[in-house]
Amino acid sequence: MATSTQYSWLLILCLLSACLVSASSDDTAYANSLLKFKQSLINATMLDDWKEPVVDKLCSWNKPNWTGCLCWNSSFIGLRLEGMGLGGKIDVESLLDLPLFSLSVMNNNFSGPFPSDMNKLGKLRSLYLANNGFSGEIPDGAFSGMKAIKKVALGNNKFTGKIPVSLLELPRLVDLQLQDNQFGGRIPDFWQKSLRVNFSYNKLEGAVPAALSHLNASSFLGNINLCGKPLEPCKPRKSIPKIAFIVAVVVGVVLAAFMILHLLCRRRAKPLQYEKSVDSFRMEGPAYKKSKKDKETEHGRKLYFVRNEWERFELEELLGASAEVLGSGSFGSSYKAVVFSGQAYVVRRFRQMNNVGKKDFYEYMRRLGRLSHPNLLPLVAFYYRKEEKLLITQYVENGSLANKLHGKRCPNEPVLDWPTRLRIIKGVARGLAYLYKELPTVTLPHGHLKSSNILLDSKYEPLLSDYGLVPVMNKDHAQQFMVAYKSPESTQKDRVTRKTDVWSLGILILELLTGRFPANYLKQGKGPSADLATWVNSVVKEEWTGEVFDKDMNSARHAEGQMFRLLKIGMCCCEWNVDMRWDLREAVERIVELKERDDDDDYYSCASEGDVYSSRAMMDDDLSFSSLRS
Ligand SMILES: *[C@@H]1O[C@H](CO)[C@@H](O)[C@H](O)[C@H]1NC(C)=O
Ligand SMILES: *[C@@H]1O[C@H](CO)[C@@H](O)[C@H](O)[C@H]1NC(C)=O
Ligand SMILES: *[C@@H]1O[C@H](CO)[C@@H](O)[C@H](O)[C@H]1NC(C)=O
Ligand SMILES: *[C@@H]1O[C@H](CO)[C@@H](O)[C@H](O)[C@H]1NC(C)=O
Ligand SMILES: *[C@@H]1O[C@H](CO)[C@@H](O)[C@H](O)[C@H]1NC(C)=O
Ligand SMILES: *[C@@H]1O[C@H](CO)[C@@H](O)[C@H](O)[C@H]1NC(C)=O
Repeated sequence: MATSTQYSWLLILCLLSACLVSASSDDTAYANSLLKFKQSLINATMLDDWKEPVVDKLCSWNKPNWTGCLCWNSSFIGLRLEGMGLGGKIDVESLLDLPLFSLSVMNNNFSGPFPSDMNKLGKLRSLYLANNGFSGEIPDGAFSGMKAIKKVALGNNKFTGKIPVSLLELPRLVDLQLQDNQFGGRIPDFWQKSLRVNFSYNKLEGAVPAALSHLNASSFLGNINLCGKPLEPCKPRKSIPKIAFIVAVVVGVVLAAFMILHLLCRRRAKPLQYEKSVDSFRMEGPAYKKSKKDKETEHGRKLYFVRNEWERFELEELLGASAEVLGSGSFGSSYKAVVFSGQAYVVRRFRQMNNVGKKDFYEYMRRLGRLSHPNLLPLVAFYYRKEEKLLITQYVENGSLANKLHGKRCPNEPVLDWPTRLRIIKGVARGLAYLYKELPTVTLPHGHLKSSNILLDSKYEPLLSDYGLVPVMNKDHAQQFMVAYKSPESTQKDRVTRKTDVWSLGILILELLTGRFPANYLKQGKGPSADLATWVNSVVKEEWTGEVFDKDMNSARHAEGQMFRLLKIGMCCCEWNVDMRWDLREAVERIVELKERDDDDDYYSCASEGDVYSSRAMMDDDLSFSSLRS
């Protein structure tokens, strides 16, 4: 009897201890990791209780068994090794298996570079490296992927180089301490809401980003080249020759990268290419080149404002303002200039418009200037000189649709969802319809419809730009660069019609829905545009499923039918046979009746009412929407 009781007790004890062991086996593993971590530390005398045999439990309630461990609810959650005279190496690798939410090694004697692979500690909410001797540049991607981190304290070290841009990728960041280092360059555009940050006593320069201008000036102390609110206003810098060189280098690099990017992945491309420096613009600028002939036609140097309601400014003011090169399109460079009133304008220079006489040019531009529609970027003023023309429009903050579709998205920027894309294409359609109504005698009322010519205002309403230029453009140049001249009728039969813009609209729709960059935009000159046709066909033939849509569109189930409708409209607009292609009126009608959400998904063909034929660009009958959606 007694023995059996003893056995039961033994059994219970064994079971209990087994339970204990299994409950604390995690802690044993953690303790072993910590021992490994300790090996690369120097002078770790304060961590003498970290030793073998390792403890079963690192924490009893919130009390740590080993010095420097952070505990919560009996669980290990982090390390706080502060003021221990520690040096050596932070061996991130050994910490990877720990549930490490917080890591602090403040007030120690660490030196050397920012610990490598820190961003592999994906659970970290706070990281304190302040008051050590860390030095050198922090790699740009050092914080990539640390989605949970809230606090980063790097103050009072010897870090140099740029502030790593991966800090901009941290959605939860609320506290960033960079003071008392030697960080240089500009402050990147931090966007995180209610971010507390200290940049004081570094070597930062340039303007404080607008999003940080509400901060207390004590966040920016001791950076002598930093300016702008809350510090002293920035002095406008006049031309700096260095910039010309930098711009030139950037041009080369961006151009090369641009080409390579397009070769490697058609999908993500940056449409702007940088070209000329402001200096060269000024040197060549018409206002600064007074030939005798120019003096004779002094009045010709004036900007012509197409409407009375625009604010007036002089050409000199525009060119004298600190102009910024925006890029060089296929027609010539464009510049952003802010005039004294603070309004920003875009100046575009055209050299390939010299076959039109002055009188005709003025007349036509006045006509364009009278156009007024919420989806057209209005012409503000123009300048005429025989060799070159300047067209001035307002500057639109949000950039182009091409940028939004193919450019790199800023961390705080919303994705273009389906409702937004639908609103954009509807606006484009309305703008086009207006152009067609107002320019009844012009063959190609737009002529250059593509995503980089669709600008987006602050509410993502589209504004068409670069419209109506065909009549004043030199023909060979237009044929080489304008989108309408890449249509099948132009490349094959050398003819354009009032349906040619519909082709461009179709390509735009496909681009908008698929998020893919139409390769033909890059193509210059004439010749068979097989690349474009291939692209269109491949979109339909190979990918005629929901897969075709841009993933960024957050394709909601309840809208797929409408998306397919728009895709179909795009295909119908891309009909090769001009006679069978929709006219603009029909295309616009179809687009504006699209809805954000599906109701019924009735199927319709490209044919106009009563017209029975099967379009080449149409999908086969058996591929009806309903079969696709099942
Ligand atoms: C740590 O745990 C061991 C047993 O694993 C125990 O002997 C020791 O007293 C504990 N130390 C502290 C500080 O809790
Ligand atoms: C503490 O931990 C236990 C078990 O690990 C869990 O059941 C409990 O919810 C935790 N308490 C809090 C407040 O998180
Ligand atoms: C070692 O650590 C002690 C405190 O634990 C500190 O006083 C001492 O300065 C440190 N020595 C070195 C060489 O870092
Ligand atoms: C800090 O570490 C260096 C070596 O890296 C050592 O020479 C120095 O004494 C240490 N200072 C303190 C205060 O521990
Ligand atoms: C800025 O901060 C300092 C100390 O952090 C404080 O003394 C000062 O009043 C603050 N200034 C403003 C305008 O908030
Ligand atoms: C930033 O750091 C500097 C230097 O350490 C300090 O004087 C200043 O008060 C800090 N500012 C804020 C807003 O914490």
